[in-house]
Amino acid sequence: MTHVRPARPHQKLTPDGRRMREVLSYSRRGSRFTPSQQEAWDAHSEGWVIPDEAVDEPDFSLASWFGREAPLIVEIGPGVGEATGVLAAARPDHDVLALEVWTPGIAASLAEVAAAGATNVRFCSVDAVWMLEHMVPEGGLAALWTFFPDPWPKTKHHKRRLVDRDFAAVAASRLAPGAEWRLATDWAEYADQMRAVLDAEPALSGGVVERWAERPVTKFERKGTEVGRDITDLAYRRR
Ligand SMILES: C[S@@+](CC[C@H](N)C(=O)[O-])C[C@H]1O[C@@H](n2cnc3c(N)ncnc32)[C@H](O)[C@@H]1O
Repeated sequence: MTHVRPARPHQKLTPDGRRMREVLSYSRRGSRFTPSQQEAWDAHSEGWVIPDEAVDEPDFSLASWFGREAPLIVEIGPGVGEATGVLAAARPDHDVLALEVWTPGIAASLAEVAAAGATNVRFCSVDAVWMLEHMVPEGGLAALWTFFPDPWPKTKHHKRRLVDRDFAAVAASRLAPGAEWRLATDWAEYADQMRAVLDAEPALSGGVVERWAERPVTKFERKGTEVGRDITDLAYRRR
């Protein structure tokens, strides 16, 4: 029996054929590469980037893109990959799937991964919410990382925040028992929301923790600190 997956974001149509309005945790940004991003893309995309269309294949398998079976870690929104390469290089026995909708960010991340000497990272620019829902089985994650997700500070945009009640339930269900979800933000009020939402998720236990020493400082953390914002790290485990 062929399993038909629901359409990916940006591909959903109304019954009369118009594009459906969707609440997404990101806005479309430019897709132009700088020369160094282009160079990294040319050198590594063939081996390390899973094209969006590949996930439409009925027999899509993550293991075949990693070339092995290994415990899976997902990073949502690596940005330019400052944390990805270092954390992945320290975990050669894990596969790291980095989901980033901004392609120049993927290109920059490829360079970071190569510089860190990691070969266990694959990138895909399909919406991470959709990917977790449809490509990762329940209990399929050894860890989940979400560092500095877009804060969507305006009240009318709060509904676009990645970490909300519905997503927390999906993410918790994808974690294996005992597996950890690590988060960080420089936006105090989003940190409060994260804690409220994750505390309320019955499958998770955890809370605010000391800064994760292993987590490299990224551009977003640096910018937040420079303007005097406190950085909050959170860690929750699947019960
Ligand atoms: C504020 S940046 C943080 C980047 C990086 N983690 C850091 O600390 O510098 C958030 C990133 O998440 C990506 N993003 C937001 N929602 C996403 C989603 N649903 N799927 C994949 N990527 C997403 C955005 O494109 C953006 O690059």
